[in-house]
Amino acid sequence: MSSPSPVARSTDPKVILVTGASSGIGLQTALDLLKQGHIVYGCARRIERMEPIRAAGGHVLALDVSDDDSMCDAVDELLYSEGRIDVLINNAGFATYGAVEDISMDTARHQIEVNILGPARMTQLVLPQMRKQKSGRIINISSIGGTIHTPLGAWYHGTKFFVEGFTNAMRLEVEDKGIFMVLIAPGFIDTGFSGVLAKELDRNEKAPAYKPLYDALRHTNATPGSPPSVISKVISRAISDVKPKTVYRAGKYSKLLYLLRRTLPHRMFDGMMLSMLK
Ligand SMILES: NC(=O)c1ccc[n+]([C@@H]2O[C@H](COP(=O)([O-])OP(=O)(O)OC[C@H]3O[C@@H](n4cnc5c(N)ncnc54)[C@H](OP(=O)(O)O)[C@@H]3O)[C@@H](O)[C@H]2O)c1
Repeated sequence: MSSPSPVARSTDPKVILVTGASSGIGLQTALDLLKQGHIVYGCARRIERMEPIRAAGGHVLALDVSDDDSMCDAVDELLYSEGRIDVLINNAGFATYGAVEDISMDTARHQIEVNILGPARMTQLVLPQMRKQKSGRIINISSIGGTIHTPLGAWYHGTKFFVEGFTNAMRLEVEDKGIFMVLIAPGFIDTGFSGVLAKELDRNEKAPAYKPLYDALRHTNATPGSPPSVISKVISRAISDVKPKTVYRAGKYSKLLYLLRRTLPHRMFDGMMLSMLK
């Protein structure tokens, strides 16, 4: 039997914008892509944290994905300097966790702005140039949380379910224009994510009725995950594969939980998740 043919890969240098490049997955990805010879623009609010990107020969831009002017400025600056954009990596994001009853609408709105409207707007801003080039890739960092659900995570899961639906729908609009839409679904990864989530639990907790769930989530949130390099590697593949997959799953529990969610009936999956939190 002949062995399967290897996936065709491209090593041409690309112009790449990475959001959320001041920490975790985004920082690791920016540094790895620079090592591969790409032209990388790391973007985030905390520009001082992106010094390693600058030191490695990359560019850094201030970007707040909940601020329209900031997004327009970042994309304009990149296009002015490079005249093209090959890859947008929509990675910036965070998880607000807490009971739906406890989370204020302002907190919910901010979660939606950062995880949904930010990447959607960045996508809008790069599309005209990518269409002109007749090529481009938009890589959206979703989560295993875009397929499964956990208690106290309703707003976060809602945003990642959106990212999946939005990315899949957009593929039907733009693939015939040479633009690939790719989803990355990380499992548990060791980054700044769990520290932010822990703060959100403390900030949002109000109604005593949910205390056992808050305590269980605090415990689960402290479980170690995979290193961010595991995700950076699949992002690199999504860039170099001549025809990228529509979704790449990687990191602790990502494939296992996906399989269980797809095979178990709803209530059996619910029971399993609740028992994992005890
Ligand atoms: N870690 C995990 O277990 C895990 C699992 C599944 C999916 N993910 C997803 O992976 C992505 C990256 O998270 P991470 O794990 O690397 O966490 P992280 O270390 O906390 O990094 C989050 C990044 O998002 C940026 N960010 C947050 N709010 C922003 C805003 N308003 N404007 C611009 N940038 C903003 C942060 O930069 P500034 O604060 O400097 O702006 C930071 O660079 C997120 O979309 C997350 O949902 C993570």
